[in-house]
Amino acid sequence: MDSIKVRGGTELDGRIAIAGAKNACLALMPATLLSDAPLTLTNAPRLSDIRTMTTLLQSLGAEVTQLQGGRVLALSSHDIASQRADYDIVRKMRASILVLGPLLARWGRAEVSLPGGCAIGARPVDLHQHAMECLGAELELRDGYLHARAPSGLRGAVIEFPLVSVGATENALMAAVLARGETEIRNAAREPEIVDLAHCLRAMGAQIEGEGTATIRVQGVSTLHGTTHSVVPDRIELGTYMLAPAIAGGTVECVGGRLDLVTRFAEKLSETGISVEETADGVRVSRSNGRVRAVDVVTAPYPGFPTDLQAQMMALMCTAEGVSVLEERIFENRFMHAPELMRMGARIEVHGGTARVTGVERLRGAPVMATDLRASVSLVLAGLAAEGETMVSRVYHLDRGYERIEEKLRACGADIERVRSE
Ligand code: EPZ
Repeated sequence: MDSIKVRGGTELDGRIAIAGAKNACLALMPATLLSDAPLTLTNAPRLSDIRTMTTLLQSLGAEVTQLQGGRVLALSSHDIASQRADYDIVRKMRASILVLGPLLARWGRAEVSLPGGCAIGARPVDLHQHAMECLGAELELRDGYLHARAPSGLRGAVIEFPLVSVGATENALMAAVLARGETEIRNAAREPEIVDLAHCLRAMGAQIEGEGTATIRVQGVSTLHGTTHSVVPDRIELGTYMLAPAIAGGTVECVGGRLDLVTRFAEKLSETGISVEETADGVRVSRSNGRVRAVDVVTAPYPGFPTDLQAQMMALMCTAEGVSVLEERIFENRFMHAPELMRMGARIEVHGGTARVTGVERLRGAPVMATDLRASVSLVLAGLAAEGETMVSRVYHLDRGYERIEEKLRACGADIERVRSE
């Protein structure tokens, strides 16, 4: 397993290209199952999660071809050999559950392994089941698999979510576009990745309105055609790299990043005293003098502060002036980075879903371990400003969501390298 070695203390100066959104691409790729016409995705990120979704779709019989080094994905599902998403693929990536809606919508049946929990929480899929049952499917949990059937097809319905779920909203949307009649999804997630999916489905002939609001209405159609769609820029990668100069000092321009997709996060970052400005090419962030100010953070569904940026923000708060209280309200166990940051000298008290961080002058480099995607990148960020050397192990977590992070940061002057394990 590779590690990443960071020697802190160098200010950053340079530009970082922001890739297409992992979490948009992971919902867009299963959309190929909804039509027998080709779907082409451009601006696709080159990540291990995308390769896992490719393997899953190919295991069903879909064709997925990576062009231009993976930047373009050519997908088609003319003939599907199987409707079974196997455990050995699903356990690697929870987003595999997103084939459930499309398989049910087009073939009337699906067998999807339950993803199982992960480091940040139990991650149940009861809301996905609820949505499919509202649309007329029968689901049975057997041998760790969700067995779903809709022999007479799906029919439009009102789907009311008791809590906001990004994935369940995406599954409901993809199932509804081919259901007979009208579907109304209430308390829908509003994330930009859902808006991006709706734009792509509409380009394929779906009739959707209200994406990005809490109520999405869909008029089912009988078939969908193909399209070419450019994946929306990744707002979480953007937020992550905006924090790099905030933590290490200096200036970084995030090229291709869209400030309008990180409004709440950017406001919070500005409150700490960091300069955030929109440029013709993206977003420029700089920190000139001294320590940043401590601020409080509460994670919430979009457009609130993203849970996927909580760990990275905590890394900044570790050396802020004052005390910061971070409340994680989306997942039940998303402070796995805290004990690792404490190994670097951070002062953090975790009580349930609340972490209280008392800023210190400087962190000290140490060997630390990645536990999940966003926790691991928060350790790399912390290492940028820590005194001495930080070695982050198990960086396969990182490679799931960040393309060549060490190259992007090194190009801005960071003293960082990947140490390949034998
Ligand atoms: C998506 O996960 C993202 N993943 C996550 O990003 C992100 O953290 C999350 O949305 C929240 O924004 C992808 O898009 C592939 P949810 P998802 O359903 O859809 C509970 C990353 O780092 N819930 O919105 O799985 C759930 O336990 C990843 O890129 C149920 O109770 O998240 C959580 O507490 C991590 N029952 C809350 O809802 C369900 O059926 C929100 O989860 C589904 C979810």
